[in-house]
Amino acid sequence: MVASPELLNVELLENSYSEIRPRANEFAISFYQNLFSLYPETQPLFAHVDMAKQQQMLISALNLVVKNLRKPNLFKQTLKGLGSRHVRYGALPEYYPLLKEALLKTFQDYLQDRWTAETRQAWTEAFDAITKLMLDGY
Ligand code: HEM
Repeated sequence: MVASPELLNVELLENSYSEIRPRANEFAISFYQNLFSLYPETQPLFAHVDMAKQQQMLISALNLVVKNLRKPNLFKQTLKGLGSRHVRYGALPEYYPLLKEALLKTFQDYLQDRWTAETRQAWTEAFDAITKLMLDGY
């Protein structure tokens, strides 16, 4: 069952993200390193996109999601629109769980002992809700 944005653990998401924010550029580099080493099949999709732009994609996506957590309607609309653009980026639905694993691993690497079971659960539910909304836009 995918949680609707209203049911996500907003406080935990905001707090854990605020720890990442000051190191967002570094976090984004690590995310793509994790993604491409865990799932090399995703790399060709980004072949024509420069590294700085790739990193910006992740940071702006995370900023957007965290900023809109308390605005469920905007959250839903924005993510559907984002999803519809991903059709032409070649982002197949089966790639979403791969990005999720790479993101969770990167959070764990950065938050270390602050990466608790509850925080992991909160990001898993958030990512699943985001995936569902984005795929609704396909
Ligand atoms: C939670 C899921 C995702 C989020 C929040 C997200 C977010 C974004 C954002 C904000 C952009 C910048 C361009 C735009 O706003 O249209 C972008 C671009 C891109 N995304 Fe995603 N994305 C997600 C999943 C994926 C997946 C699963 C793939 C495929 C592996 C993917 C591949 C790409 C590519 C290749 C671009 C660059 C497109 C270009 O500039 O040519 N994304 N994404």
